[in-house]
Amino acid sequence: MEEKVTLSVIKADVGGLCGHTLAPEELLDAAEYVLENALDETLIDYYVTNCGDDIDMIMTHNKGTDNEEVHKLAWDALEAATEVAKELKLYGAGQDLLSTSFSGNVKGLGPGCAEMEFVERPSEPVVVFCCDKTDPAAFNLPFYRMFSDPFSTAGLVYDPSMTTGFRYEVLDVMEHKRVFMDSPEETYSLLALIGNTEKYAVKRVYRRKDNEIAAVCSSEKLNMIAGEYVGKDDPVAIVRAQSGFPAVGEVLEGFANPHLVAGWMRGCHFGPIMPVAEEDAMPARFDGPARVMALGFQLSHGRLVGPNDLFADKSFDKAREKALDMAEMMRSMGPFMPHRLPESMMEYTSVPKVLAQLKDRFLEMDEGCECKLDEIRERGDME
Ligand code: 13P
Ligand code: 13P
Ligand code: MG
Ligand code: MG
Repeated sequence: MEEKVTLSVIKADVGGLCGHTLAPEELLDAAEYVLENALDETLIDYYVTNCGDDIDMIMTHNKGTDNEEVHKLAWDALEAATEVAKELKLYGAGQDLLSTSFSGNVKGLGPGCAEMEFVERPSEPVVVFCCDKTDPAAFNLPFYRMFSDPFSTAGLVYDPSMTTGFRYEVLDVMEHKRVFMDSPEETYSLLALIGNTEKYAVKRVYRRKDNEIAAVCSSEKLNMIAGEYVGKDDPVAIVRAQSGFPAVGEVLEGFANPHLVAGWMRGCHFGPIMPVAEEDAMPARFDGPARVMALGFQLSHGRLVGPNDLFADKSFDKAREKALDMAEMMRSMGPFMPHRLPESMMEYTSVPKVLAQLKDRFLEMDEGCECKLDEIRERGDME
């Protein structure tokens, strides 16, 4: 049997310099040191980077997905980075490590994780997406463009191994369920679900011809919350490209026309997601707008050849300009919807407190105001 390789991308925010803008080199070095020592024994190869204040560890090995040894290693690397973050008094040091100890798998402990296992093709191009200031449902639209929209992926029309379409695994974040749906036959129903980025998130995409895994996105915190919105997680995703999958340029095309995603300042605002080069993944304006990086690798017997920093290309300048224009427009709305997220999606909110304070001051719509004026005057709220 041909040997399988596993590509694991595990990420967490363990502290920012300054505020929530950047995971500095010192943190990446600390994580890298731990991974370096695990080469040969646990890992075949690794690449550590950051998108904003999130550390992204891209790792290859032969141990399969959800492997305890690999997850423990990633946890150790994030703990090492946390130590440094605490020493430097970085902002939110240890933010995403929700547990004080490791127990079998990083899932449920705070970090995000996107993994896939496959037999490496004669040439295996993969694109790893790393984001900051948004949540996993940010990939719903670009995944649809990549795997179902022939105006974006020409291969859906021209490549015989793609014309049978792709299968989506869709999570219902609120009911804690998942459903598999087939494109192109069920495209309208699929859009009926994944167009609702509050409730549904695409977890995986498979090529229907042979059930090969095509894409996966991190969604750990979504899984955990099951009905209650306790926080977003800046996502990562892996997409395989070429030879029966969308070409690299078709994969990237999903981000050529920036869309609005949830996140940005305090995890409470809609704003554009801006495709950027690694060195520009430092969200500053209003802690944003949301960023996405695309790192292209060729796998060679599990070795990560690359990365090619794909969004560094000039052809994405217009997308960036457009995203900045959209950011400007959204910012002008201040605390008003639709810049501000609906209550149920906000990472935190003062509204319940405000409502509690106002509890006794609310009048029935049809109640005359006059009857209450004396009372209000007495309280000194009015002259
Ligand atoms: P493949 O079918 O080899 O992936 O070629 C498609 C392509 O690269 C077109 O740009
Ligand atoms: P992060 O989720 O990237 O830490 O950002 C939090 C935030 O509040 C930004 O304003
Ligand atoms: Mg942060
Ligand atoms: Mg972040």
